[in-house]
Amino acid sequence: MSEISYRFSPDDLRLKTAIGLREAELIRIPRETGTALYGPYIELPAGEYEAVIRFDPRIPCRGRALMDVCAGWGTEQIASRWITADEILAGAMSARLEFCCAHLSAGLEVRLLVHGRFSGGIASVEIRGKLAKLQSSEDSSAEVKPESPSVTFADFPEPGVENTVRKGRNLYQGYQRGIGLGFSGLGARIALDPDFRRARALAGSRTIVGDANLANIFLLIKFFLPRLPFGHIVEFGSYKGGSAIFMASLADKFLPGVQVIGFDTFAGMPATDRAVDAHQSGGFADVDLPELLQYVDKINLRNLSLVKGCFEETAAATLGQQGSVALCHIDCDIRSAVDYAYDATRPHMVPGGYWVFDDPFVADCVGAAEAVEDLLIRRDGLNSEQLYPHYVFRESFDKTWQW
Ligand SMILES: C[S@@+](CC[C@H](N)C(=O)[O-])C[C@H]1O[C@@H](n2cnc3c(N)ncnc32)[C@H](O)[C@@H]1O
Repeated sequence: MSEISYRFSPDDLRLKTAIGLREAELIRIPRETGTALYGPYIELPAGEYEAVIRFDPRIPCRGRALMDVCAGWGTEQIASRWITADEILAGAMSARLEFCCAHLSAGLEVRLLVHGRFSGGIASVEIRGKLAKLQSSEDSSAEVKPESPSVTFADFPEPGVENTVRKGRNLYQGYQRGIGLGFSGLGARIALDPDFRRARALAGSRTIVGDANLANIFLLIKFFLPRLPFGHIVEFGSYKGGSAIFMASLADKFLPGVQVIGFDTFAGMPATDRAVDAHQSGGFADVDLPELLQYVDKINLRNLSLVKGCFEETAAATLGQQGSVALCHIDCDIRSAVDYAYDATRPHMVPGGYWVFDDPFVADCVGAAEAVEDLLIRRDGLNSEQLYPHYVFRESFDKTWQW
């Protein structure tokens, strides 16, 4: 494995500060609330890393602060933890955070967030670690190192709510995933998981779904779907096939007999509603379906079918033949398509089955949010089980079911 090591000094302007004071070879952190450090926005290949913030021993260090590592220019938190002055002093004036990049990560930064009671002086930031073994992102023979640890239930945080059904969903389970991915190190653990890594590598650059969203789908497939009555996985909006391939790879491992069906025109968005949709007809047309089918064949995903055409013309017949559904991934961006996807799957959904909506919190997908508000929340009276990293709703289930 090759190693990588970067060191950034405070006068390197790639290191930024919102509240700090730049001095010679130092960013002094005053007792204010805000972002004491962010940047340097580098690109890191897949690998296992450590970020180190070194503090100047001449500046008294007090209080505690939140250190995190983000990719995607602040959009994807990879790891975070609280650091205290005592810990910094015990660590020879340094604070460390381990993290892992499952694939090439752009816009990577180290941040220090303070709440008015932290003081200290930043002397340098280091990012170093080992690159994952180079492999083609689309190489079906890509095997993950045997020592990579699998995520287990022990990695979930303990949510402070009752493990019970409330208003048709289980908030304990929603919080296990949402808090785990949002606030604890679960995302970093998942990035190391061999099954996640294999599924992510098979999807490669064929998906535009974010890694936090994929991580949640991983959790649903590995830990939560096996507890439900048998049902298949369907996806509305597959584009270049990446998220469907990701789900099929995991289903192959964890859900014997489950088929993954991806619906799409595979030729671009259909007509959109100018009153609500920012997306336009013909968007996402850059798909080479024959090449995609060849690839699915090459990687030997026998549990994946891709159904070409407008959902409105293809899905009813396919769902009628296929049988029950346990997970429906809705990633089609526009009002009419999200409406259709939800209504078409509802009669087939097993008790407690999941709808995962990729789009409602995406800036240019208010049409998708409106569909959830009008159909699921207002019309059908559903409450969400999870908000982060995406909206998750459950089909109602018999409360005598053993969870
Ligand atoms: C954001 S892309 C899906 C991204 C994909 N899940 C991934 O892994 O990157 C949205 C897709 O929804 C499809 N779509 C939207 N409305 C549709 C409809 N009514 N019928 C078929 N496909 C539709 C578009 O063709 C587009 O490929």
